[in-house]
This record gives sequence, structure tokens and C-alpha cells, in this order.
Amino acid sequence: LHPLSRAVDDRLNKRPVRMPAPALLILYGSQTGTAQDTAERIGRQAQRQRMQVRVEALDSYNVVNLISETLVVFVCSTTGQGDPPDNMKTFWRFLFRKSLPAGSLCRLDCAVLGLGDSSYPKFNFVAKKLHKRLLQLGADVLLPVGLADDQHDLGADGVIDPWITSFWDRVLALYPPPVDQSVIREDEPLPPRYVFHFLDDVPDKAADRLPQQPATPSQTRPFLARVVFNERVTQPSHFQDVRHIEFDITDSNIEFTAGDVVLIRPCNTREDVDQFCQLLRLDPDRLFTISPNSTTWSVPARLVQPCTVRCLVQTFLDIAAVPRRSFFEQLATFSTNELEREKLVEFSSSQGQEELHSYCNRPRRTALEVLTDFPHTTAELNVDYLLDLFPEIQPRSFSIASSPQTHHNRIQILLAVVSYKTKMYSPRKGLCSSWLASLDPRQGDVFVPLWVKKGSLRFPQDPDTPVIMVGPGTGVAPFRAALQDRIAQGRTANVLFFGCRSKTKDFYCSVEWEEMVRAWQLTLFTAFSRDQEDKIYVQQRVREQAELLWDLIANKNAYFYIAGNAKQMPAAVCDALKESFQSQGGLSSYQADQMLVAMERTCRFQSETWS
Ligand code: 2AM
Repeated sequence: LHPLSRAVDDRLNKRPVRMPAPALLILYGSQTGTAQDTAERIGRQAQRQRMQVRVEALDSYNVVNLISETLVVFVCSTTGQGDPPDNMKTFWRFLFRKSLPAGSLCRLDCAVLGLGDSSYPKFNFVAKKLHKRLLQLGADVLLPVGLADDQHDLGADGVIDPWITSFWDRVLALYPPPVDQSVIREDEPLPPRYVFHFLDDVPDKAADRLPQQPATPSQTRPFLARVVFNERVTQPSHFQDVRHIEFDITDSNIEFTAGDVVLIRPCNTREDVDQFCQLLRLDPDRLFTISPNSTTWSVPARLVQPCTVRCLVQTFLDIAAVPRRSFFEQLATFSTNELEREKLVEFSSSQGQEELHSYCNRPRRTALEVLTDFPHTTAELNVDYLLDLFPEIQPRSFSIASSPQTHHNRIQILLAVVSYKTKMYSPRKGLCSSWLASLDPRQGDVFVPLWVKKGSLRFPQDPDTPVIMVGPGTGVAPFRAALQDRIAQGRTANVLFFGCRSKTKDFYCSVEWEEMVRAWQLTLFTAFSRDQEDKIYVQQRVREQAELLWDLIANKNAYFYIAGNAKQMPAAVCDALKESFQSQGGLSSYQADQMLVAMERTCRFQSETWS
């Protein structure tokens, strides 16, 4: 028996039977929405048990109240290099304050479910660390931390479902429900979170406008930035469309430095919005307000009321994403068509997850496309459930590719337009990248809601410290910002490794790099992977420059950076770098590993990767 389970069993034996069930609080930290969806799924199960339940993002929750909570589930994903998601960063800082006394959470029963991806380093780091910290603060952890793996967590065979089942076993054993209390059956719909009130007024154009210009742009109050230019920087014949886009942020109060990130929230296409309204028999011009159905919910802060149906669907409901399991769970409860209901029930069951994966995730089928496959259920959908069914459109982040020193009041990005084929008839398109690529400032003013956040890359303050940057593809974006910054300040110890497929097709920014090279401001190494028979990647160039790199790192205190979206690339570049430590510095393999760890600890090695 796991020691923790033994402790829980001891407590079960000591507890008086039939204590009233406390209110359940489910707190999530979610970057892409999976942790949120799982949290909400547990929330709906609690509602079926007739428990009082609240589901909140960790940073929306007033963390000092945690000491008076009784029962809390944390559902947290791990992002990037073992980092907490953006919507739990404040909570994370608070929880690890040294001043928190050891027994502060001694009244708390809690459980931690982690969502991670084992193909990244520091698998489920956030959940493991949170679990440890809760124990340290005196909380009673009801069951071992669940460590779900994005690589293979499907239904009954994965971690999530069995973990949730054990969680309910524990909770219902600790707090047995009254014998006469019935649960709400799985096939009965739960009440919606919000109620729509349609207004009879003629739609006011103002209702379609995004929020007013704010003091400091943020998630709930973005800045509407004008698109200044939008240029394709790869040859038309090249397979990938990469855009160089500039936004005007004059009077926005936005401040940033090289390494920071701009967040942009995309809109659904007009065609998708029209199709959605048609399927659900909604009048896109109808005005409405919404109110929460219970005190546990509040209206999402960025939803400006009153709002038209078109504005809600276009800017808020994520109908173009691949729907999650809870979408099917809920649809199944509404459906009165026997055939459709049967399929929906299967897709929402633990056993049906493989099939749901083949139907939805593998071909990247969108929620809108699913609705067209279930026309009877769709036609019957009650509008009040729209915000339960569709998650909010998530913002996308892009490394800022320009320096505020050289491009005042401007933000530039390098954007790879996402488009690929699956077995679906039409190509799959990235919502944000396709939308941004479609914006043409030559046709009139176009605006994009955006805000910025601190990135993870930091560049050295000392003017004499050299930087070595490895950024294949759009990974070069933050390094372009850093180079502009550094060169403006007269710092010329800059080394860049850039990789792309072909010197003539996707070597973007080449004119800028060449100018810097000519002016002795940059040492550039390029790897054109497909200009010859054998592939050449940036790591090969790193290996070839072992002597230079060792000199810069060992003798001149250089900083080393990696950015990019190729999953294998960072590890391959690290290996090449460590080889240079061995060949040039005479270090053993172990010493080379330790040297890189030490560099990482002192921020002399930094990486930012995305997929
Ligand atoms: P490829 O597409 O020809 O394989 C920018 O995307 C560049 O990164 C391209 O030249 C791409 O090459 C290259 N790339 C792909 N996988 C990589 C890896 N594992 N390591 C380094 N570069 C890689």
C-alpha cells in the first residue's frame, strides 16, 4: 500500500461517519484549455453528486482564502521548460513565499492532477512541485498526484479517468452523501451556467465593438493595434507562408524589451460564424445580455454587454478548435435523436476515447464540423448552453521580432501560417495565423486585439558580454529584436546560427543580417537544410564552430540561447554544444553536462521552444 493511501485509510477510520459534504473548489492552471476542460468535467461530476462546486482559474481565485477551504482539487498543466501556465503564475509566486507558515493549510483536504507531455523535459513538473508544497504546508492530500501524459492518455487506459474515479471513491468515503439523496443521472442535462436574455432593440453598431482602449492592455482589455504591413517573406513557390507583420501601438502604454512576447486573440472567420448561426438557427444580429444561473459563476470579464450573437460567435466561442471530450458528454445529454445520442454517448465514455481520437483529434476535426455531423442534436441545442459547450477563444503568443529602440511605437512579428492536410476534405488552417495572414492593410484600416507579457529570454546587461543565438525558422524572431537592441547600443559581440530549408526560398531577413555582417556587428552561420542532398541543420554548424564557441563561453563569459519550434532541435544543439566543451575544454561528458547545468542556473544558457 502506498504510504499516502495508508495515511488516508487511517484518517477514514478515525473520521466520524457521515460528515456533511463540504463545498468542492476546483482550481486549474491551464495554458491551452485541456486542464480547464478536465477541471470543468470534474465540476460537472460534482454537480451530479449534488455537491456545491466552484471551478476557477488559479489566478482568478483569491489565494488567501485557501486557508479556510475544506476540499480542493488542483488540475494543473506544465508548459514550456517546466513552467506553470500563465493563469496560475501569481498563485505560484504566492504559494512559494518563504513566509508561509508550515501548517497554514492544515484544514485542507486536497488532490492534485497534473497534465503534462513526456516528450518535453521536466514532465509534469508543476503538479509534482505543487503536491510537495501542499504537503509541506500541512494539507492532507487525499490520493497520490495524478500524472497524465499528453502522449498517451486516452480514457480508461490513461491516467485521468482512473485518477478521477479514485478521487471520487476517496471523497465519497470521507463524506458519504445522505442515503436519501439521489444523484443527477449521466444522461440528464445539468442546468446551463448562464441564461441568455434577448433584447428587441435594433442592433447598435457599438455592440460589435471591442472594449474601450485601456490604461494598460491586458487579457481582459486588449489594445486594438492597427496593422501597418503584412508581407510574405518566403518565396511564393515555397511550401510555407511566413509573414512579417507590423502593428502600430502608439498611445497604448505598452512597454516591452527584447525577449518579450505579444499575445493576440484571433477571431473566427465570417463563413464559420454564418454557418454556425445557420445550423443553430440563430439570428446573428440579435442583441442579448447574459446573466449567471447561480452565484458560483460570473460573466466572463471580456464579454461586453449587450452583445450581438455575431460578436459572441466571432470573438468568443472557439468553434474552430478540435472539441474536447466534455463537448461530447454535454451534447449526449441534449440529444433526443437515438442514433446520434448513441454515438455521442460512446464518444464521451472512457472506452470510446480511442475512437473519439480517430474521429476528432487525428484528422483535426473542428467543433463546427462535428455539429454538421450531428444535425438533429445541433438543431435542438438550447442557446443558454453556448458558453458551457464552447470554450473561450484562447490568445496565441508570438515572440516580438523588433526592438522598441529601433521601431518606436511598433511591434513586429514573424508568423508561420499554419496549413496542412489531414484526411478531412478541406486543409486544416491555424485560426490565428490564417486570420492574421488574411488582414490586408492596403484595403483599409484593420485592427488586432493584443497585449504583451514578459518572455522567458533575458539578454545580458553588461555591454561587453557576447551572445550566441541559435534560432532556426521563426525561432529567430526574439534574436532579431535582441540584435536590433544590442546594435543600437553599440554592442557588436553577436553570433547568430540561422537555419531554414533553402537560401533562395525561406532565408528571410537575409538582407538585414548581411548588412549587420558587413558592418562587423554580427557573425552569422547558416544551415540550409535542403539545398543539398544531405540535410544540414544548425547543430552541425554549432559543432563546426566548437573552437569559437568555447572561446566565447569559457573566456568571454558569453550567453547562449536557443529558440524555435522543432521538437528535436534544442536537444541536438545542446549535444553539439556539450561536444565543444569536451573537444575544446577537455571536459568529460559528465563535466560538460554539469557546465551546461551551471550555465542554465546563472541564465547564461536560455531556451524558448514551442510546438
Ligand atoms: P527541414 O524542414 O528540412 O527538416 C527551420 O524550420 C529549419 O529547421 C528547417 O531547415 C528545418 O529543416 C530545420 N529542422 C527541422 N528539424 C530539425 C532538427 N531536429 N534540428 C535542427 N533543425 C531542424
